[in-house]
Amino acid sequence: MSPTKPRVFSGIQPSGELHIGNYLGATRTWAQQVAEQKEELIFCIVDAHAITVEYDAKELKKRTLDLAMDLVACGLDPEKCTLFVQSDVREHTELAWYLATATPMGDLGRMTQFKDKSEGKEFVSTALFTYPVLMSADILLYKATVVPVGEDQVQHLELARETVRRFNYRHGEIFVEPQPRLSKTPRILGLDGQGKMSKSKNNTIALFDEPDVFWNKLRPAFTDPQRARKVDPGRPELCNIFTMHKAVSSEDQQKEVVDSCTGAKWGCMDCKKMLFENFNRELVPLRAKRKEQTPEGIVKVLGEGADKARAIAQGTMREVRAAMGIGSGAPVPGG
Ligand code: TRP
Repeated sequence: MSPTKPRVFSGIQPSGELHIGNYLGATRTWAQQVAEQKEELIFCIVDAHAITVEYDAKELKKRTLDLAMDLVACGLDPEKCTLFVQSDVREHTELAWYLATATPMGDLGRMTQFKDKSEGKEFVSTALFTYPVLMSADILLYKATVVPVGEDQVQHLELARETVRRFNYRHGEIFVEPQPRLSKTPRILGLDGQGKMSKSKNNTIALFDEPDVFWNKLRPAFTDPQRARKVDPGRPELCNIFTMHKAVSSEDQQKEVVDSCTGAKWGCMDCKKMLFENFNRELVPLRAKRKEQTPEGIVKVLGEGADKARAIAQGTMREVRAAMGIGSGAPVPGG
């Protein structure tokens, strides 16, 4: 049974509050795709990936539910897409083991993310090493053809594609090669201007921070260092604040920013105020939706999401188990 609409799968780690970088780079686009309904969309909170490094169990549970509520508030309407938690569908970890038989160790050792996350660590878990195998399982389980990801995940996607080829060569045409779909939004840097915006670096603004908190974080954010004083002309193309303007401000306003900044007609504070107001306007309906969410409500939503996901996952696993000769059940096809 091949799905009629293209099937899209993406995963997000519950590793902290959803911040404006996640929103502009990923979840805002996901929400647009959910509204359009041109594709079948599956979104997964990947808690089993979050446990590959040291973590706190209570904190993980809280973050998982908080993230789910944030995602619904962003527009991942559970009536129009499938939203679930990875560990609620046990087929993910089952398939990961089977796919590990078709994934070379050498390739895993070459993954940039593994090298970055393991470097200098006293304890590096086997799970961190096999992280990309679980990611392959997430995607292949649903035979998703499109996977929205950031640039940093393209290497994992390529590994998943190779796994499909190797597995299918050995066991028959079961899996489908997934294609990455890269975000069109330029990368938002941290507020300190030091690389990626990331909760672990404490350089983020949470999407659902109250407006005053939001502004207090945006106000001191890093801008073009050449603009020490208001009379110094700035370089918008090098400024993280302008990158965000490009995502949330109108064309006319973007022109105004370029003109006022390069002509030293206004200060960075004026520029940030405009950005803040535009963010605020966009976030009004999302904040309202976020306030409607409750832990009890979201647990129900995630339970239903897992049921929908599991129905697909179990179908794939029946094929996989038969093709691999695993278990006492169905015989190997054609065997
Ligand atoms: N590794 C991804 C990240 O860190 C998260 C992820 C896990 C994922 N499984 C996935 C993304 C499947 C897309 C598809 O961002």
